[in-house]
Amino acid sequence: MSEVPLIDLTGLRDGSEPAAVAARIDTACRDTGFFGVVGHGVDPELRRRLDHLARQFFALPDREKAEVAMARGGRAWRGWFPVEGELTSGRPDLKEGLYFGQELAPDDPRVVGGVPLHGPNLFPEHPAGLRAAVLDYIEAVTAVGHLVLRGLALGLGLEPDWFDDHLTADPLVLFRIFHYPPLPPGAGQWSVGEHTDYGLVTVLGQDDSGGLEVRSRDGWIPVPPDPEAFVINIGDMLERMTGGAYRSTPHRVRNTSGADRLSFPLFLDPNWDADVRPVPSLDTPTIAPSAGGDAPDRWDGQDVLAWSGTYGEYLLTKVGKVFPDLRAEVIDGT
Ligand code: OGA
Ligand code: NI
Repeated sequence: MSEVPLIDLTGLRDGSEPAAVAARIDTACRDTGFFGVVGHGVDPELRRRLDHLARQFFALPDREKAEVAMARGGRAWRGWFPVEGELTSGRPDLKEGLYFGQELAPDDPRVVGGVPLHGPNLFPEHPAGLRAAVLDYIEAVTAVGHLVLRGLALGLGLEPDWFDDHLTADPLVLFRIFHYPPLPPGAGQWSVGEHTDYGLVTVLGQDDSGGLEVRSRDGWIPVPPDPEAFVINIGDMLERMTGGAYRSTPHRVRNTSGADRLSFPLFLDPNWDADVRPVPSLDTPTIAPSAGGDAPDRWDGQDVLAWSGTYGEYLLTKVGKVFPDLRAEVIDGT
């Protein structure tokens, strides 16, 4: 039976046994493409602080939350959207969320130049501490993502800094806070429908509610909730770069815990302009049975192995599907 393994990153972080940790990461990426990590070095107090503030924000009336509505974030793709405001495979998800990204000054050349998904964040005024907590969290958890990429590089037989040297010196970092209201037991709708993530690695913090499931080779299995750990999963770019050896695994959420579920995914992705190609250590990449030529089976019908282009181009094709209203503004630039 497949399961989601829990990997201690300590030996990678302190350099005492990087190869052993990298080997565990490599195995998990070839199997389910999902694993938990502990020994990641993020202060549990920061996580509790952010959880507490986020709950205060989501408890506000919609009219107050709408002061940072996503429509006001424009091309930067930031801000709040209400329950059923985001689509997965054309269906509204039963979640609301706050979107953040790298905090850029209004005079940053990418903001001035109108590069989509780049800009200042839209921080709510209340609760007052949310801005600082989000920025601290993004910094701390981005470091976990870079650490995991070092492990991935070692596992793939590359120099430990390979990702930073080629794709992630100036990564695209997207951070979201989701609130999943409880669904009645037996509910047919999804809190988030089946999908894969787009980039390199996702570092997901979750509370103790549960409800996240991943499609393993043996069928759908639960990802155990553990507020002390982070869940790491592989995105489409790594599947592409490894010729399908690493799996960008479909996953979905249904919150039937009876309580409000919060989750905190941070997406560590290639630089916007990066041309994402197969990694050099795999000259004859093994194509996993789930991967090459499976486009009709994939949730989005896309073939990430055949596709080529910059990461920004790939991401834009996705944004229009999940937020159709933003399409004109973000993609067409109108
Ligand atoms: C996502 C996602 C899972 C969760 O944001 O891509 O899969 O538990 N989130 O919120
Ligand atoms: Ni996801």
